[in-house]
Amino acid sequence: MWNKSLNRRTMLTFWFTLTASGAASSLLAPNVFARSGTLDPTPSCGPDEELTRRGSEGPYYTPEPPMKSNFRADTSDGEPMTLMGFVVDRACQPVVGAVVDLWHADSHGDYDNEGYRLRGYQRTDANGRYVFETIDPAPYDWRTKHFHVKVHPPGGRLLTTQLYFPGESRNPRDFLFNPRLLMDVHDAADGKIARFDFVVA
Ligand SMILES: [Fe+2]
Repeated sequence: MWNKSLNRRTMLTFWFTLTASGAASSLLAPNVFARSGTLDPTPSCGPDEELTRRGSEGPYYTPEPPMKSNFRADTSDGEPMTLMGFVVDRACQPVVGAVVDLWHADSHGDYDNEGYRLRGYQRTDANGRYVFETIDPAPYDWRTKHFHVKVHPPGGRLLTTQLYFPGESRNPRDFLFNPRLLMDVHDAADGKIARFDFVVA
């Protein structure tokens, strides 16, 4: 059962602690992550994992976004959301230095097509982890709520896809929706935490 008393900052602190120390991982995981019941400290994959499904790029991608993992200064609107996870290969091994490029609509369903508001990329760390601090995007037109992502492993194939939110009433009516691309989304005391692990080649 998700413990709503955990907030995003607490979860991030533990996430980075796990990154910094394998020993800490074994100590903290049973307490924090088991209590949360959802944010497993290891990638959610196994041997011979299927590659993450591709999705449409859509019409609103702007090339050459800035290196930016915290989008919170981009807007004063919207519920805070932390998007985090691993990038791994088919053998479930972490992919270090993969580019994870995120862009999405704001809380009114609008994209910034002039600049780089709610757009940015980062590289996965030594454990294949990425973390974005952003907001909960709004649906627009006929689209259900989604994030756009490009994941580019060093020397590997570029993955362009979209991530979806569970339980959205618009999901079944959006022909681009793919249930294989649903994130694990949970309420925290101070916003939402979303988790998605990418499998790339
Ligand atoms: Fe979109």
